[in-house]
Parts: sequence; structure tokens; C-alpha cells
Amino acid sequence: MKKLKNWDYKNWLSSNEYIFKLTHFLKKQINFTKEMNILDIGCGRGKIISVLSKKYQMVNLPLGIDIVKHKDIEKKIRFIKINALNYLSKTKEKFDIILFKQSIHFFKLVEIKKILKLSKRNLTPKGKVIILALHPKQNHWPLFKVFKSKLMKSLKKDEKILNLIKFNFKKYKINYFTFKVKTTRDLYLQMIENRFNSCLLNLSLKEIKTGIEEIKRRYKKKLIFSDKLICISYKNT
Ligand SMILES: C[S@@+](CC[C@H](N)C(=O)[O-])C[C@H]1O[C@@H](n2cnc3c(N)ncnc32)[C@H](O)[C@@H]1O
Repeated sequence: MKKLKNWDYKNWLSSNEYIFKLTHFLKKQINFTKEMNILDIGCGRGKIISVLSKKYQMVNLPLGIDIVKHKDIEKKIRFIKINALNYLSKTKEKFDIILFKQSIHFFKLVEIKKILKLSKRNLTPKGKVIILALHPKQNHWPLFKVFKSKLMKSLKKDEKILNLIKFNFKKYKINYFTFKVKTTRDLYLQMIENRFNSCLLNLSLKEIKTGIEEIKRRYKKKLIFSDKLICISYKNT
């Protein structure tokens, strides 16, 4: 699969408001301290852990890993360009939090089984694994036909992933994070042109162009919709 490079490029997913609300949401589940060691798997530019690192003046810079190395990676983190499975099977480092924010679906089901096992192994005694994924049933992103059918297929796979995670964790908590997106149609169309979502990566240029025209016809110039995530958290003890 082609690599995802423009996921949060100048859109709501990297906005200060989004990151602020997300870190606030995480705070309800995690008692952050400055001594904490955090691993963010599929961290992208590392914005979330960078904000946490600054906010809680973390002594250990959080570690972000990703298969893509962006030029503008945040400063207050450690970053390694590596496949998560390789990293987790080799590292001896222990983490208080292992975060997967919208990254778990990039792995095959057999890989996820291994990743969950290794994540548990690499937790400190009171550590937590936090997994955030698009809500499989309540997605409100503006969509065009081909995008919708690819996304629905991907969300079906996500349901299997969520069941696998629940089965593997046995004891877990579920919460939801909802962000009200207010953006313009033009900005959203740029996101589509930039292939911000993995379902857009393999579409042809013609499919993208037709999709853009479809969005122009079907949606108003100002877009308001909710971006809803499901969050599964597992605690070691
Ligand atoms: C949808 S983005 C989410 C980025 C970030 N967590 C966020 O929410 O802003 C998914 C990220 O997972 C990364 N990724 C995909 N496969 C990966 C792998 N095998 N190992 C590490 N990172 C991976 C992608 O490169 C991408 O940056």
C-alpha cells in the first residue's frame, strides 16, 4: 500500500483545538505525570505526544514511531522511523502508555494479534494501552461514492479489529471521543486531493476529480460534521 503522508496536513486533525480536546479526553483516562514514559505507534508528526510532553513537563521525552518520517516532526519527542511490529519485538524499553491513534487498522489481523501481545509485554506494571479508531458505525465525514464504498469496507474490517482487541484484552474500557468539525468545503476538497485518508491512496486521479465534483454538488460551502472515535483502553493490573 502507498504510504499515508498528508493525514493531518493543515486540517482539523492537527488544529490546536482538536489536539487540546483530545489531550483533555485522554486526561480523563490517564493520570499523566512528568515521570511517565509514552510510546505513540503511528505517531505521524508527533503532535499529540509533543503537547503531552510540554504540558506535563515530561522527563522522558515520549517516543513516537512511524514508517513515514515527516520533515516537520515535533521537537519535544524522540522519533524512530520503523515498522511498529519490528520495533515492539526488539525493544526492551517499558512504557506507561502505549497509544495507537488511528493507526491500528494499518495492520493485518494476524499482525494485530502479535502487536497486542507485544504491547502488553512492553507495559510497566500499571501501564495502559490506549487504542483510538474511527467509530465503525457513526461516521459523518462528507463522502463521495467511491470513497464511501472503500471507507465502508475499511470500517467493516475495523469491526473485526475491534472484536479482536476486545477478545485479546478481556478486561477493557470503552469511551468515545467526538470532535465537531467546522471547516470549508474548499479546505476539505484539498484534503481529498492530498489523499488524507488511506481509502483515497489507491484511487486514480480521475476518481479523485470526479469525487471532488460530487462533493461540490452535494455539500454546502461551509461544512459542519462530527468526527467520532472509539477508544478502547486496557490496564495491566
Ligand atoms: C491515520 S495516521 C494517524 C497519525 C497520528 N496517530 C494521528 O492521529 O494524527 C496513521 C499513521 O500510522 C502510520 N503507520 C502505518 N503503518 C505503520 C506501521 N507498520 N508502523 C508504524 N507506523 C505505521 C502511518 O504512516 C501514519 O502516519
